[in-house]
Amino acid sequence: MKLNIALLAGDGIGPEVIDQAVKVSDAIAKKFNHEISWTPALTGAAAIDAVGEPYPDKTHDVCANADAVLFGAIGHPRFDNDPSAKVRPEQGLLKMRQKLGLFANVRPTFTFPSLIDKSPLKRDRIEGTDLIILRELTGGVYFGERGRKDNGDTAFDTMTYQRFEVERLARKGFEMALKRGKKLCCVDKANVLEASRLWRETVQALEKEYPDVEVSYEFVDAVAMRLIQWPKGYDVIITANLFGDILTDEASVISGSMGLMPSSSVGSEVSLYEPIHGSYPQAAGKDIANPLATVLSAAMMFEDMNLAEEAQAIRDVVNKSLAEGVVTEDLADGGKAYKTSEVGDWLAANI
Ligand code: IPM
Ligand code: MN
Repeated sequence: MKLNIALLAGDGIGPEVIDQAVKVSDAIAKKFNHEISWTPALTGAAAIDAVGEPYPDKTHDVCANADAVLFGAIGHPRFDNDPSAKVRPEQGLLKMRQKLGLFANVRPTFTFPSLIDKSPLKRDRIEGTDLIILRELTGGVYFGERGRKDNGDTAFDTMTYQRFEVERLARKGFEMALKRGKKLCCVDKANVLEASRLWRETVQALEKEYPDVEVSYEFVDAVAMRLIQWPKGYDVIITANLFGDILTDEASVISGSMGLMPSSSVGSEVSLYEPIHGSYPQAAGKDIANPLATVLSAAMMFEDMNLAEEAQAIRDVVNKSLAEGVVTEDLADGGKAYKTSEVGDWLAANI
């Protein structure tokens, strides 16, 4: 198979972790007789520096014409500490999600047998966790009306949802649940927010179309607690953009490191694959960041292209590296810490 992949390394540790995902994917291509052509394109702070905007049209063209997009990370401390910055790297990511129509962000949480004791949570609580947080990605407070008034002394961001936005996400959630544990939990704040009441109403109306799925409704504050108290209680969670952003960082603790969890963003023609972690600027250029979340994102990419064996081969080699302790410093725990590039080389060599 011929694959044309847009490669958006982005900022911070993005380029380093992306390099390892490319090595691994190329090794997979070689083993399974595929041909991957990678088309790099600029995004984030790197794009602002080069052309003045974080998601240039040229980058959009590359993405829109690719079979898939593999993405590293976005963000730079220079902008975080400057609230008055007019252009921000993160705007690039938001624009990309919107322009590519990526309304659903699939963020799985699972455990790795050899890492269970790396989690700060107790083994019996987390062992066997297998859940998906399906985060709405192109609406809500991230995209609602915002601004300042009263000479800048009042600021507002609005959480706006339209019924069709909730419905298309919820349908994906129902379909996913049908193929898994047949449980769907709608996570919202319907006791306070009108937008959440629209979520509930919309999901309730769909229930009868999916009689085999057991549906529950929970408030996001309670889920923030239950998610780490008893993660095995969840199968598929659907939730709004901001709630999903927060809950998925929290859920990554279950697996042992933020450097492990992959994601896919889907919606229209082309899908995007990215680690859930950010640009981790403190580690940029040091060759110490954990590349596994990005490597596992590449596995999700193969899976979605109906290349299940290829995806499994990546997951197997990742498990092997964890079991044999070929890990970066976040997981080394006093043992030998391998460099980002060494982990990538090892994975590619062992495929
Ligand atoms: C994520 C990130 C982004 C988000 C930022 C970088 C805009 O935190 O993908 O979770 O909030 O969506
Ligand atoms: Mn986030």
